[in-house]
Amino acid sequence: MKVSVSPGHNINGTLILPLFEGSEAVPESLQEGLHTALKGQINRILSEGDFKAKSKTTMSIIGGEGGKAILVGLGKEDDVDIHAYRKAGAAVIANRKKVHGTDLTATFSATSIESMGSFAEGMLLRDYSYDHYKQQDEEDKEAELDVRITCDEGQEAELSDLITIHAGVASGVHLSRDLGNCPPNDMYPEAFADQAWEWAKQYDNVEVTIINYDQAVKAGMGGLVAVGMGSARKPCMVIFELNRKVTGRCPLLVGKGITFDTGGISLKPGANMDEMKYDMGGSATVFGTMEALASTGHEGKVVAITCMAENMPSSNAQRPGDVIKTLSGKTIEILNTDAEGRLVLSDGLWKAGEFDPEYIIDFATLTGACVVALGHEATGLWSNDDDFRTRIHEAGNAVGELAWPMPLLPAFEKEMTNSKIADTRNLGAGRYGGANTAAAFLKQFVPNRNYEKDGEQITWAHMDIAGTYWGAKTNSMVGNGATGIHVRTMYHLITNG
Ligand code: BES
Ligand code: ZN
Ligand code: ZN
Repeated sequence: MKVSVSPGHNINGTLILPLFEGSEAVPESLQEGLHTALKGQINRILSEGDFKAKSKTTMSIIGGEGGKAILVGLGKEDDVDIHAYRKAGAAVIANRKKVHGTDLTATFSATSIESMGSFAEGMLLRDYSYDHYKQQDEEDKEAELDVRITCDEGQEAELSDLITIHAGVASGVHLSRDLGNCPPNDMYPEAFADQAWEWAKQYDNVEVTIINYDQAVKAGMGGLVAVGMGSARKPCMVIFELNRKVTGRCPLLVGKGITFDTGGISLKPGANMDEMKYDMGGSATVFGTMEALASTGHEGKVVAITCMAENMPSSNAQRPGDVIKTLSGKTIEILNTDAEGRLVLSDGLWKAGEFDPEYIIDFATLTGACVVALGHEATGLWSNDDDFRTRIHEAGNAVGELAWPMPLLPAFEKEMTNSKIADTRNLGAGRYGGANTAAAFLKQFVPNRNYEKDGEQITWAHMDIAGTYWGAKTNSMVGNGATGIHVRTMYHLITNG
């Protein structure tokens, strides 16, 4: 989608008209630019109450002599905020039909730049489909959408800059979705690494380092190796560095990248197992965030580590009962090979300490228990620092991506460290609180500053996106498949402090 900004209220192609709930006529300031017939038609619809302009609803006007239009509801004027504008923009794209054409002009009446920007953001985010594997007839192909946002004289530069940022961030969200939606026969650890490598070539200030299987074995990444060794597609770790030369502590993101999770020898049931292609959603989130930051010219340093593996049952696979040694030196008793995300993350989190980061945030489609707790409505959020957890929660709220505070309790840690023969165990003692025990397990692998034995643990948060990375029907920024959640949260957190 191409979005341009221009002052005045001339309409190209289909008019997009956002309206407050209960509007009885086209807003005064927009009347002038409208074709008389179209204006009359819209005013009739509104005065007769045929379009109530409730949030996220649209009405299409086609076939009138004054041209085409899509009316879109913003909801009640008193409640309208940037989220309402974002949702309205997304609703337009979700409900647009081929007959509306690809030239659209959105006009606003006395609206803030931020709100118009959010409307464009919603359009950009929702303008996504994953069609790479579909054959398409030439005649079904559509040109790229060409959207014009009209504004008042003098607003264009600021609005245009804002939309450029939204477009850059949306490119990160779309990259995350592309990675997640890619079928697992084509998205395997090395394919992800290759894509990262190719992607980095377009930016002078990005470095990608790949730690391959042999190097991971040599380095002692026992968690990553144990999970990935059962697959012919060997595991790897991919490290992204943006603005490496900038000095000082920086944010560090870690992603779970299980390109397919069969459960391993603790095999999952067959129903919906195809969805386990999304089990690399954490790695897609951090890759997408790096794209959002790089494409918008972020000047600070940021590092991301993705732990890529395919969890397969085979004669080379790890077994329940195995004890493995991780990069940290800590050993883990494997009690269920399906609790594999925490194993690869144990090495990713420990590795993060080498960068002496300001903070570490990990993203993982980690537990079914988190979906039981929060459904598809919110990501589970744990942290060893209450203020930091609040900052992330607020960053999520600011962009409409909910991350809900969850407890990191000593009792859960205890439950994960009472193995009879190893330092830790990868399974809780019972089936309750599974998302919390998983978080408590991860905490064991968050290093202290400079790896000092009695030092302070690095500020860390864990985000369980098992319920929000896909299947979130109420996420109106996406039609289906991978959501690309939290690229925007991270962009907001990292760029707004
Ligand atoms: N990738 C799954 C978690 C998952 C399940 C995400 C369903 C989304 C939907 C993870 O590796 C897993 O299998 N976790 C187990 C842990 C258990 C064995 C302790 C789970 O949640 O059942
Ligand atoms: Zn699993
Ligand atoms: Zn998994």
